[in-house]
Amino acid sequence: MILITGGAGFIGSNFIFHLLENDTSNEKIIVIDKLTYAANIGNFDELKNDERFTLIKSDIIDPMIVKRTFDEFNPRAVINFAAESHVDRSINSPNEFIKTNINGTFNLLKCSLAYFGRLPDEASSQNQDDFSITPSKRSFKFIHISTDEVYGSLNYKEPPFTESSPYKPNSPYAASKAASDHLVRAWFRTYNLPTIISNCSNNYGPYQFPEKLIPLTILNATMGKDIPVYGDGKQVRDWLYVQDHCNAIISILNKGIVGETYNIGGNAEITNFELVSRICGILDELIPVESREIKKNHDHLIKFVKDRPGHDIRYAINNQKIYSELDWRPTENLETGLEKTVKWYLQNKKWTDSIKTKHYKDWIETNYGRR
Ligand code: NAD
Ligand code: TYD
Repeated sequence: MILITGGAGFIGSNFIFHLLENDTSNEKIIVIDKLTYAANIGNFDELKNDERFTLIKSDIIDPMIVKRTFDEFNPRAVINFAAESHVDRSINSPNEFIKTNINGTFNLLKCSLAYFGRLPDEASSQNQDDFSITPSKRSFKFIHISTDEVYGSLNYKEPPFTESSPYKPNSPYAASKAASDHLVRAWFRTYNLPTIISNCSNNYGPYQFPEKLIPLTILNATMGKDIPVYGDGKQVRDWLYVQDHCNAIISILNKGIVGETYNIGGNAEITNFELVSRICGILDELIPVESREIKKNHDHLIKFVKDRPGHDIRYAINNQKIYSELDWRPTENLETGLEKTVKWYLQNKKWTDSIKTKHYKDWIETNYGRR
C-alpha cells in the first residue's frame, strides 16, 4: 500500500496511472486529496472499478483523517505531491500556500512519524517481493516532491543547480516549498523518519491544468485566444516530461537513500518565447488552416504582457547525482515530449472541455484583469 497525497492533480494522476499500469504485484494505492481547483476526479473515471485504488477527499492538514488513513491502510510509503503549485496564484493570494505547503506537510510528517514508530523493525515475510512492499521500519519511506524553484534564480551563465546549491526562494510558492523541504529534512535528522526529497524542474504532459504555460498556450491557441508571454519572454526553464518524472520517483522509491535529496531535470532548457513559438509550430503542422479559428499561423496570437513580479530568470538542473546513484535518465527530449503533449491535448477533448470550467474562466479573467 502506498499513500499518495495530491494524487488528483497533474503529476499525481500521471504517477498513479504509471504505477498501476506497470505494477505486477497488485499493490494498492490510497489517495488523500482536498480536490482543489487543480484536481480533476474525472481523471480517475477508468479506475472506478479498480480495487487497487481508493480516493479519500481530505486536506493533508487534518490530523484525524490522516491518522485514521495510516491506521486503516498501513502504507509502506508516503509520496507527498499535495501542494498549491502555481506561482502567480501565490503572488495574488499566498495564504493557501502557507497552509497547505507548510502546515499541511508539517501535519503529514507528524502523522507519519507516529505511524512509523508503531511499525515492526523488519517485515516478517520470507518472500523478497513481499518484503519490499510490507510496511516495516526498514522499508518505510516518506518521499517529498519539491521543486528547483527553492534554489532561486540563475543568470544565463551560471552552472545548473546541484543538490548542494543554497536555498534562495523568490516567490511565495517557492518559499513555502523551501520551508516544507526544511521540515522534511528536520524530521529525518531529528526523529529519524526515513525521508527523501526530490527537487524537479518544470513538468509538462497530459492532465496539466491550463494555468501553466504549456497547456495554456495549447488551449488558448486552439481557441484563437492570445498567448500571454510575460515580460520579454527571455526567461529560461528546464522542461521535464511528466512520465520521465514518474520514472524518477519510482527509482527513488525503489533505490533512493533515506536522508538524501535528488535533483531531477529534463535536460531541456529553453526561453519562454522560443517554447511558445515551437508549440505554435507544432499546432501549425497538426491543424489544417481551414479548420483554424483564425486562418493564420498560430504565432500571431503571441502577445507580450506585463511581467510577473519577482520573475526568476532561469532554472537549470544538474542531473549527475540521480544519473550515477539511481541510474535514471529522461527518455523524452523537448521535441518528442512537446509533440506528444500537443497531440494529447488535441485528442482529449472530453478532458479539455471538462477543464474549461468556471475555474479556468476565472483564472483567465482575473489574470487579464491584472495586466
Ligand atoms: P497540481 O496543482 O496539479 O496538483 C496538486 C494537487 O494537490 C491537487 O490535486 C490538489 O487538489 C491537491 N491539494 C492541494 N492542497 C491540498 C491539501 N491541503 N490537502 C490535500 N490535497 C491538496 O500540482 P502538480 O503540478 O501535480 O505538482 C505536484 C507536486 O510537484 C507539488 O508539490 C509541486 O510543488 C511539485 N512540483 C511541480 C512541478 C510542475 O511543474 N508541475 C515542478 C516541480 C515540483
Ligand atoms: P509556469 O508554467 O507558471 O511555471 P513556473 O512559474 O513554476 O516556472 O511558467 C513557466 C514560465 O512561463 C515562467 O517563466 C512564467 C512564464 N509564463 C508566461 O510567460 N506566460 C504565462 O501565461 C504563464 C502562465 C507563464
